[in-house]
Amino acid sequence: MRKSSRAPVGDKLTADMQHEIAFEMATSSIRYGAGSTKEVGADFSEMGAKNVLVFTDPILSKLPPVRNAIESLEANKVPYQLFDRVRAEPTDESMQEAIRFATSNPHDAILAVGGGSTIDTAKAANLYSCWPADFLDYVNAPVGKGKPVPGPVKPLIAIPTTAGTGSETTGVSIFDYKPLRAKTGIAHRRLRPLLGIVDPDNTRTLPPMVAAASGLDVLCHAIESWTAMPYGDRPRPEKPVLRPAYQGSNPISDLWSLEALKLTARYIRRAFADAGDEEARGAMMLAASYAGIGFGNAGVHLPHGMSYPVAGLVFPAQWDPKLGIHVT
Ligand SMILES: NC(=O)c1ccc[n+]([C@@H]2O[C@H](COP(=O)([O-])OP(=O)(O)OC[C@H]3O[C@@H](n4cnc5c(N)ncnc54)[C@H](O)[C@@H]3O)[C@@H](O)[C@H]2O)c1
Repeated sequence: MRKSSRAPVGDKLTADMQHEIAFEMATSSIRYGAGSTKEVGADFSEMGAKNVLVFTDPILSKLPPVRNAIESLEANKVPYQLFDRVRAEPTDESMQEAIRFATSNPHDAILAVGGGSTIDTAKAANLYSCWPADFLDYVNAPVGKGKPVPGPVKPLIAIPTTAGTGSETTGVSIFDYKPLRAKTGIAHRRLRPLLGIVDPDNTRTLPPMVAAASGLDVLCHAIESWTAMPYGDRPRPEKPVLRPAYQGSNPISDLWSLEALKLTARYIRRAFADAGDEEARGAMMLAASYAGIGFGNAGVHLPHGMSYPVAGLVFPAQWDPKLGIHVT
């Protein structure tokens, strides 16, 4: 049994550093339920949205998750514009195309319907259209300058269609940076969606290989966040606002990570084998969001860190929908 008390070990920091004394949990609001995608029009209507930018990828744009979301916007008379050119495994170039779209189309809210690629692209488009800057300004150091997001961004509702990255709960946006053949990202609490609508109906059309790959992502998020360095072993920031989103494991993130691990162990095979198994698909959707809450606050570690240079070897990763795998 792992210890849940987080007494600082006192030997990892230099003499002028204090140990962290606190952790802070943050996540998006999450609504879970089969059929809940059809509520999104009412959500935007309620917030008085006059022009919603809808982000998705070319495959999903023809499938029920996007169709249901758009029908809901129309039924609630919410004006929208569609960007359906999200790239699976986004790059700096594909992100910048989405940013240009958001910058040149006035809007007051954003909807992302898709996997992590779509939700992450929508987060970047939201950030740079609200706070224009050189692309590398907000990108994590050392690839970028790691500047903090200067202020609030527009409300973003995320509807995941994979189970999944947990991107509907996190302030993280990941992409391939082509000039350096490196995978990197932008991470800031302000990027987090206002609401994640987690609807198990949306993974009915998920190809089995995507169900397997995205399910293993959940497994890695859960294991890595549960085994991350305890927050008390990390240095204390000068002021609370400088506390990073990835703070180390802590008693609350542990709950989410461990539950995600249990659900994944129980349901991943069934979700892979049978897209008609509603119980398994629902459980994997929940597991993805649970793991997102866990790793979005505790962080991940070596396996994700090591995957970035490996991803660089087969760069740029490109999704082949026919093969159901990433190809070079
Ligand atoms: N932001 C985060 O916190 C976070 C965490 C982990 C991973 N990521 C990033 O997310 C990206 C991967 O996202 P992903 O694994 O969700 O997949 P994805 O969004 O890249 O989608 C993979 C493929 O599956 C298709 N697809 C998705 N949902 C479908 C559905 N319901 N029916 C039919 N086809 C469907 C897509 O069209 C695409 O071709 C990577 O860039 C990864 O680095 C982000």
